[in-house]
Amino acid sequence: MKTERVFITGCGGMLGNAIYPFFKSWYSDVLATDKVVSEDWLSELDVRDSEGLQKVFIEYKPDIVLHLAAETDLEYCETHPEITQDVNSTASETIARLAEEHGATLIYISTAGVFDGEKSGYYSEEDTPHPLMVYGQTKYEGELHTLKHCSKSYIVRAGWMMGGGRRKEKKFIYKILQQIGEGKKEIFAVDDKWGTPTYTYDFAMNLFLLLETKKYGLYHMVCEGKGSRYDVAEEILRVTKHQDITLTRVGSEYFAEEYFAPRPASEIMINAKLAELGINHMRPWQDALQDYITNHFADYVNVDSETPEKEAFHPSRKDKIQDENFTERRSTFRKDYPSSVDYVVHNGTSFPASESSKKAIAVNMSEEGLCLYVFDPVSKGERVSLLKHPAGSEHEMATVQWIRQEKSGVLKAGLLFQQ
Ligand SMILES: NC(=O)c1ccc[n+]([C@@H]2O[C@H](COP(=O)([O-])OP(=O)(O)OC[C@H]3O[C@@H](n4cnc5c(N)ncnc54)[C@H](OP(=O)(O)O)[C@@H]3O)[C@@H](O)[C@H]2O)c1
Repeated sequence: MKTERVFITGCGGMLGNAIYPFFKSWYSDVLATDKVVSEDWLSELDVRDSEGLQKVFIEYKPDIVLHLAAETDLEYCETHPEITQDVNSTASETIARLAEEHGATLIYISTAGVFDGEKSGYYSEEDTPHPLMVYGQTKYEGELHTLKHCSKSYIVRAGWMMGGGRRKEKKFIYKILQQIGEGKKEIFAVDDKWGTPTYTYDFAMNLFLLLETKKYGLYHMVCEGKGSRYDVAEEILRVTKHQDITLTRVGSEYFAEEYFAPRPASEIMINAKLAELGINHMRPWQDALQDYITNHFADYVNVDSETPEKEAFHPSRKDKIQDENFTERRSTFRKDYPSSVDYVVHNGTSFPASESSKKAIAVNMSEEGLCLYVFDPVSKGERVSLLKHPAGSEHEMATVQWIRQEKSGVLKAGLLFQQ
């Protein structure tokens, strides 16, 4: 167990849901915070509260700071530029200064949305940002503050985020699955916006490996490949076996009223610097998407022409802009919704040598978020010992429900936990 103290901001969101259990399994001391406490492992902290931040640095004395907190809804950002500036830019400056003053290592999560989308190929770390919208502009300012004020810092840009499961997913995957759940027979998706999906669980693992290198600086961390929103929707329909739904290509103007924030035509990125360091373990986005749906949204898969009843998603974003109780409603849902018991297993090769030499299999995170290890090899039906308990429970054993080897060589299994 690592003894550095880890402080995480904005940990109640999509990415935090994967980051927390992963880091909690490696570090003995993790302080996870968010402005709304939607989990019992979260503490309340609004990053605009600079005194509150200062208190954390003085009293908790973090060695590592993972700064995830941000306003991420592009339309909300356009209509609330001052709040967005305070959260995404000003608070990031405060955190960078405090991290420097207290000798902490800072990881600032940024976005492909800092680019203007004019480039025809993949954006690498060498390309110059030129944001088009308030979200991109304020996130870019956060990057600059981090670089300027904190010497031991990483800036890690993610792409189109997918992760968080039923309680936290709120981006494109959510929007498509929600329509499937509503029984829509035609779904529209734009084919003029391109990007690289980023699976939060793979991101958490790769971030951990990057942190181990102590090679500070700017990194891209996205899944492998690229696709338009249409391509991602098409893949979702393929994975959920919903050939009965017509997918119709449209241009961005089709959704212009609802999604009025300017968006770059291309947010396609490549992990050039991770590859240079030999630690680019991000899988093709199609593999990650398949995992994600299989493990979190199995009830959305059309089985033997009988579609199971869909379980609820968190309250729709509908409009955070107009709905003052939105955050409260969503956090109540997050607290109350039960977690699933399907988990994904990776083989140990992408983990530090000391762990893989135990011939263990590292298990990816669940909806409630956990990371544990089972002995290798395993086969279907076998009962396996868990070296680490799932967060918040006493499970020590699990039965392997399914196991499969992907083309990429990654081994995966679904586990059913037992006492
Ligand atoms: N989502 C994406 O597609 C994407 C892509 C690239 C990079 N990123 C970056 O990845 C990071 C994590 O985002 P995510 O995808 O996990 O989105 P998310 O689910 O919106 O998570 C962000 C979290 O920060 C919280 N937050 C907002 N204002 C805050 C404040 N003043 N103080 C403390 N917490 C606050 C949010 O709470 P509420 O939900 O209650 O507002 C939310 O729980 C962000 O820095 C984001 O810019 C996201």
